[in-house]
Amino acid sequence: MNDWIALARALHVAAVVHWIGGLMFVTFVVLPGLGDLPAEQRAAGFAAVERRFARQARVSVAIAGATGFFMMQTLGLWSALLDPHMWRLGAMLALWTIFAFMLFVAEPLFLHALFDRRAAVDPVGTHRLLLRMHRVLTLLSLVTVVGAVAGVHGFDV
Ligand code: HEM
Repeated sequence: MNDWIALARALHVAAVVHWIGGLMFVTFVVLPGLGDLPAEQRAAGFAAVERRFARQARVSVAIAGATGFFMMQTLGLWSALLDPHMWRLGAMLALWTIFAFMLFVAEPLFLHALFDRRAAVDPVGTHRLLLRMHRVLTLLSLVTVVGAVAGVHGFDV
């Protein structure tokens, strides 16, 4: 079983690298770069890049979730969710839930259309809002990654 846990952990981290790495690329490179374009071209530029990445992120979020649940189950960690010293588990689960909701529910059902409508009326404000939301998600992701690795390797807060 130890081998499977090691493999699950490696796949979990690889999926997180792709997903959070992509989020950071959008936050720190794509969105600031779009700010240099004329306002009315920003929404189309964002849609082209983000929607292509969203398709890939659905795969990595699914892999991170499946491997995470497998580790929770095999390491018997569900009850540790209530332990404040194990806050990393709650942080991982909460962050995953936000992204899974955005990617699998909100984006296909209504966010896509909402974004297009808002961007047509207020392209500058929509760009600013997207940047702010991506920065917040990036910050939460960084705290979670640092908390997860430091916590697993003995750092206790
Ligand atoms: C459904 C969501 C998730 C579940 C159930 C989950 C669960 C787990 C579990 C059980 C471990 C092993 C922890 C331990 O040995 O104490 C782990 C490791 C890890 N998780 Fe998650 N996780 C989830 C999502 C995430 C997210 C969203 C991130 C990052 C943003 C993340 C980053 C990591 C990292 C980096 C490790 C490896 C730590 C190490 O071994 O050095 N996980 N996860």
